[in-house]
Amino acid sequence: MEINYRSPKLFSSSFFFFVFSASLWLSLLALTTNAEVHYHDFVVQAKQVQRLCSAHTIVTVNGQFPGPTLVVRDGDSLVIKVVNNAKYNISIHWHGIRQKRNGWADGPAFVTQCPIQPGGTYTYRFTIEGQEGTLWWHAHISWLRATVYGALIILPKQQASYPFPTPNREYPVILGEWWNRNPIDVIRQALITGANPNLSDAFTINGQPGDLYNCSAQETTVYPVAAGETILLRFINAAMNTQLFAAVAGHIMTVVAADASYTKPFPTSVIMLGPGQTTDVLIRTNQPAGRYYIAARAYSNAPPIITFDNTTTTAILEYAGAVKSGQRPKFVALPGYRDRATAAAFSANIRSPAPVKIPEPVDVNLFTTVGLGLLNCPPNRMCGGPNGTRFAASMNNFSFVLPNRLSLLQAAQFNVAGVFTSDFPAAPPIQFDYTGKVRRGLWQPVKATKLFPVKYGSVVQVVLQGTNIFAAEEHPMHIHGYSFYVLATGLGNFDPKKDASKFNLVDPPHRNTIGVPAKGWVVIRFVADNPGVWLVHCHIDTHLNWGLMTALLVENGVGELETTIPPPPDLPRC
Ligand code: C2O
Repeated sequence: MEINYRSPKLFSSSFFFFVFSASLWLSLLALTTNAEVHYHDFVVQAKQVQRLCSAHTIVTVNGQFPGPTLVVRDGDSLVIKVVNNAKYNISIHWHGIRQKRNGWADGPAFVTQCPIQPGGTYTYRFTIEGQEGTLWWHAHISWLRATVYGALIILPKQQASYPFPTPNREYPVILGEWWNRNPIDVIRQALITGANPNLSDAFTINGQPGDLYNCSAQETTVYPVAAGETILLRFINAAMNTQLFAAVAGHIMTVVAADASYTKPFPTSVIMLGPGQTTDVLIRTNQPAGRYYIAARAYSNAPPIITFDNTTTTAILEYAGAVKSGQRPKFVALPGYRDRATAAAFSANIRSPAPVKIPEPVDVNLFTTVGLGLLNCPPNRMCGGPNGTRFAASMNNFSFVLPNRLSLLQAAQFNVAGVFTSDFPAAPPIQFDYTGKVRRGLWQPVKATKLFPVKYGSVVQVVLQGTNIFAAEEHPMHIHGYSFYVLATGLGNFDPKKDASKFNLVDPPHRNTIGVPAKGWVVIRFVADNPGVWLVHCHIDTHLNWGLMTALLVENGVGELETTIPPPPDLPRC
């Protein structure tokens, strides 16, 4: 799946231009803005596929798994008509796209829209404004995103180029997570019993588990390269619940971007991505012509009670002329599953390429816990969580409940009462030693639909504080409609006095998803310059289902340019 660079269609009638000299033609080209509109049909439909020795019916876009790769340029617009021919409600999220004033195109079900029902359609219309790099799209309802996802690649504008040597080839490397059972049934059952959902059966690279799994060798993803080239690999962690280490045998990677923001280049033999994150790397094909594994497997910093799929997915980097003898490709050793030092060192290396203008002073301080919880079993029910409880997750002790009659954004736009309240607290209701031994009385969150209101234009700083409730683990936190600067991260409880000195106010990374370490914290900052309702959540889907989310309610500012646009007429009804 090499990326096709489409040359923009500038003019349909070319006769007039025949009379122009070549040089005038070129200068005309330079004057044109060249922004394109990309039209696509996304038909959501069931498809039979063969994986891990048996046939499965999965939900796909256009019968493709992974779904279509979208390649656009900064400044382009997309018009994507989603037709739901599947038997489930669907909605599609364009992960990392800012969607300025245009929450209607963001996609999370019951947050910015009602789902597209079977037989229904909805057209997402949005423009890329000032973003470049690797993003992706995925279903944002139930566990549909286990198979409904694809890459969204934003190239520099026509006359612009990458801030690094132009690669000879580039490939998306989409890391996914596969269940032999229907993933929708897996999460449904888990939410009925309150238990942890079943672990996945495989990880995948571009939809294929690779040759370390049974019956999978034939279909292993192959990336053809030639000796002496520079290759851009665009890694996307589309896995549902698992942070992943990834590496390329025999090749050092140079990281050049993360979450569609360029980074200060640095060499590494392994990368780590939480679900939702992307990492762009360059490799030089300077090794003996041969076949080399690209491999990925889990990274966990949770205690052993939190289990994970411990299998390894592979693809093959294949040099031109390399003999396909029966020989195994060159192997790559990945770090241990719990190699926290390697994961932390990698993340700490990600920096903005040049000094950035940090938004300040801070107008709004939000301190929120992120973590698990346990709910008591309702009377006369059997519950599958620890000691007969139900698993839950929360922020500031509120376990978020999505509405089901109207989306949050519609309720906000049209002042519909009773859908949400605007009182998500700026600090935990009870302060405690978040990362110590938390007493049992603090394990039970409260179900609610509370949004955090923010005035347009304010500088917002958020401290995300992990808790040790039930089990401390890393939470890759994602904010819709925004990218943010990651000022600092640390272990233990965040201390505003002591830890402010650790802030990187020079070249912090600019991301849309950041891992809050187990028993640790992260501080992020951004300007609330995008009005609307924007989900803030853990990108581990199980945690999302358990309520580990809230939403920013960013009010309109002054005038049209600071106001959410009206909803499109085809916005689905609940
Ligand atoms: Cu990629 Cu709300 O998600």
